[in-house]
Amino acid sequence: MSDLKIAIILGSTRPGRNGKAVADWVLQQASGRDGADYELVDLADYPLPHLDEAAPPAMGAYANEHTKAWAAKIASYDGYIFVTPEYNHSTSGVLKNAIDYLYAEWNNKAAAFVSYGSLGGARAIEHLRGIASELQIAHVRTQLSFSLFADFENFSTFNPGPQHTDGATALFDQLESWAGALKTVRA
Ligand SMILES: Cc1cc2nc3c(=O)[nH]c(=O)nc-3n(C[C@H](O)[C@H](O)[C@H](O)COP(=O)(O)O)c2cc1C
Repeated sequence: MSDLKIAIILGSTRPGRNGKAVADWVLQQASGRDGADYELVDLADYPLPHLDEAAPPAMGAYANEHTKAWAAKIASYDGYIFVTPEYNHSTSGVLKNAIDYLYAEWNNKAAAFVSYGSLGGARAIEHLRGIASELQIAHVRTQLSFSLFADFENFSTFNPGPQHTDGATALFDQLESWAGALKTVRA
């Protein structure tokens, strides 16, 4: 058990999604690390309607049970790895909606990004970096981007290139370092 808890947030809920295999791979790469405990958080397990809270999330006046459950889940982590598909040159609507629901639960936490798509999904990460900044999430430089052409067989069976293993280690190292530092800020 580590002092740090990091959520791997799976940002695709589409039937037949490629995201599950990517998130599972990230979790597998993280298993056995001493620096943090990693868990998968699948947005399919937290079905949220389009944002339906009357008060802006920054007020922290959550009215709905689904919001309170989601807020409690996100509040319990020190950092996040957002696993995002690229949809129309951005992240998925379901992930953006889930992020928009909350405010304080994200503040002064650390994050890293993993994307996948026809061209690797880097454009989805660029959009997420702007969103994360607004929420006072410190996002590390190292990111992983998986190509549907190079890292999947038949665009559906995940088989990542060996170079991604070192990239994942660098990503975890940076994220754990910043997640630990920001814990002191929150204290
Ligand atoms: C609505 C939609 C839009 C997409 N737009 C892009 C895109 O702009 N660029 C890209 O590289 N791939 C795009 N793709 C391909 C997806 O990145 C790819 O299908 C990926 O597997 C989707 O993630 P998922 O399978 O977890 O839902 C799009 C796919 C969908 C379903």
